[in-house]
Amino acid sequence: MTPAERKAITITGLTKAFDKLVAVDRIDLDIGEGEFFGLLGPNGAGKTTLIRMLVGLCVPTAGKATILGRDIVSDPYGARELVGVVPQDFNFDDNLTARDILTYHGGYFGMQRREREERADELLAFLEIKEKANTTCTKLSGGMKRRLLIGRALMTRPQVLFLDEPTTGVDVQLRHSLWDMFRKMKGSGTTIILTTHYIEEAESLCDRVAIMDYGKIIALGSPDELKKTSGSGNLIEIVITGAHAIPDLKTIPEVVRVWWKDGTLSARVTDADIAAIKILDRLRTANVAVRSMHVTKASLEDVFLKLTGRELRE
Ligand SMILES: Nc1ncnc2c1ncn2[C@@H]1O[C@H](COP(=O)(O)OP(=O)(O)OP(=O)(O)O)[C@@H](O)[C@H]1O
Ligand SMILES: [Mg+2]
Repeated sequence: MTPAERKAITITGLTKAFDKLVAVDRIDLDIGEGEFFGLLGPNGAGKTTLIRMLVGLCVPTAGKATILGRDIVSDPYGARELVGVVPQDFNFDDNLTARDILTYHGGYFGMQRREREERADELLAFLEIKEKANTTCTKLSGGMKRRLLIGRALMTRPQVLFLDEPTTGVDVQLRHSLWDMFRKMKGSGTTIILTTHYIEEAESLCDRVAIMDYGKIIALGSPDELKKTSGSGNLIEIVITGAHAIPDLKTIPEVVRVWWKDGTLSARVTDADIAAIKILDRLRTANVAVRSMHVTKASLEDVFLKLTGRELRE
């Protein structure tokens, strides 16, 4: 088996009920080693609860899961030492400084003193909070606390990384450098599970995405696969100058449907970039004068809205 085919996480019938509320409802899911996996869903869908079970912060009501072969229920410590977690909410000990938070975490997971101090300094510098190293975390801004949460999760260089809304509240510049870092981690073989309400974050980072609602996975696939199955597709609209005989565009393989109304030619297409070039080419050959063109690409947001009836960021 190649690394990509090996399973980093296997989940079978995993369920969590809080009294009568079933927050996670019999989920079956495998995540490959080295995969970048996204969990999308409206507020209350069960994303955090699923992650909390996988990282040993809450006990499943039913079902089974393994992380790199270690069972989360029968071997919770074994499973936990392989993972890094960026939780959705801040959970620092208020009395500790930023640097202590990192080094204590390293110590808790058995890192030697010198190693954990070097790693803490490296992460404080990378996350641009070095000048706050000796500041107690109650005095950090929201964005700085978020950076510290990420730093803490990375201290042990985990093989599996859970990111529960890791970029909420961080500025745009840092968000992009975090994306670069997450990509590099994936490049070096880390398996990453991300929840986010930023659609562009999921689209640009994730190999596969699961859309959750009411504790269940209601769609699963690569961003492109999900967009194709949503039925909305990409739309190309071209405004034509004057009356012309429009060439047949349906023979272009990327064109699904084409229609003409009020001087505008519209086409539903699969690959928008390729289709646009081919359509313009045909129009030019037929001497059709194009005044303007507008391309609307299908987004995961459309898929999400269609499946859940809700906006991703409510
Ligand atoms: N400790 C708890 N006790 C009771 N109910 C809980 C508890 N934790 C979560 N829930 C409920 O479980 C459901 C799922 O919550 P969860 O935090 O997993 O959602 P989420 O998908 O992470 O949402 P968000 O996008 O808002 O972070 C919600 O209805 C929530 O109120
Ligand atoms: Mg959550």
